[in-house]
Amino acid sequence: MRSPFRSDLFAGRRVLVTGAGRGIGKAVAEAFLATGARVLAHTGLQPRGLEEAFPGLAPETRQRLSLTACDLAAAEGAGTLLATLRETLGGLDVLVNNAGTMLGRVPAEAVDAAHYARVLDLNARSVVLLSAGALPLLRESPAAAIVNTVSISARTGGSPGSSLYSAAKAFVATHTRSLARELAPDGIRVNAVSPGTIMTDFHRRYSTPEKLAATAQSIPLKRLGTPEDCAGAYLFLAAPELSGYVTGQVVEVNGGQLMA
Ligand SMILES: NC(=O)c1ccc[n+]([C@@H]2O[C@H](COP(=O)([O-])OP(=O)(O)OC[C@H]3O[C@@H](n4cnc5c(N)ncnc54)[C@H](OP(=O)(O)O)[C@@H]3O)[C@@H](O)[C@H]2O)c1
Repeated sequence: MRSPFRSDLFAGRRVLVTGAGRGIGKAVAEAFLATGARVLAHTGLQPRGLEEAFPGLAPETRQRLSLTACDLAAAEGAGTLLATLRETLGGLDVLVNNAGTMLGRVPAEAVDAAHYARVLDLNARSVVLLSAGALPLLRESPAAAIVNTVSISARTGGSPGSSLYSAAKAFVATHTRSLARELAPDGIRVNAVSPGTIMTDFHRRYSTPEKLAATAQSIPLKRLGTPEDCAGAYLFLAAPELSGYVTGQVVEVNGGQLMA
């Protein structure tokens, strides 16, 4: 594995990354592995083999990586993942809540209770329940951090058909600040990364090539982001050595797409 992140900053630390089977979460899991962490990578809905999900890892890196899968939109999803976490890592220093998606572009008049439940269960409820359930483990850590994944759409409202997804991300951004305030006395920092338009399966699914090309032109840095562009922000927010005085913040990673 080639990685721009080469250090032992996270050596001995235990990290859970959700939605790490592809896209941003996969790049984040790889960055934690490259910096020495033990990682439980939740790869998404379907169980994946180690070589299939993270091909070509060196043996030393491989033995620091465990994989698991479960539906985080399901009522029992967070509990299942937390049980696996206790069995595999036995404790936790960093929780990265990253699993999420739009679950379709649904026009405002077509939004119904079922769509509301699907979008909010995955993008908001799973973050709430995983964070709450991880707290007993995080309280044992001298380097505890939660890093959530929100979205530029939490502030802009997103593009048509994404109203519930965008609102769910805004929920998580506010939940981030609330938990940060509440957990600061326990030494647990809570922050979020807010990606702009990052080229992953998310946009291959929900945006046309024409829309993406127009977006790239409108971005001050004149390109779409990559998962690797996001990974450094997660490492920064997870490491007390780098961001020990940062909590309750949302770090925007968007090439200048939104400045305010
Ligand atoms: N790409 C962007 O431009 C962008 C912008 C702002 C925010 N974000 C956010 O960044 C995060 C990662 O997105 P991405 O672009 O990397 O998307 P992605 O490539 O589609 O990856 C999404 C990940 O979430 C997992 N996931 C989806 N539904 C799930 C469920 N019901 N239960 C468990 N896991 C589930 C997926 O697993 P499967 O492989 O099984 O589907 C996958 O691992 C998401 O929270 C997304 O909302 C992305």
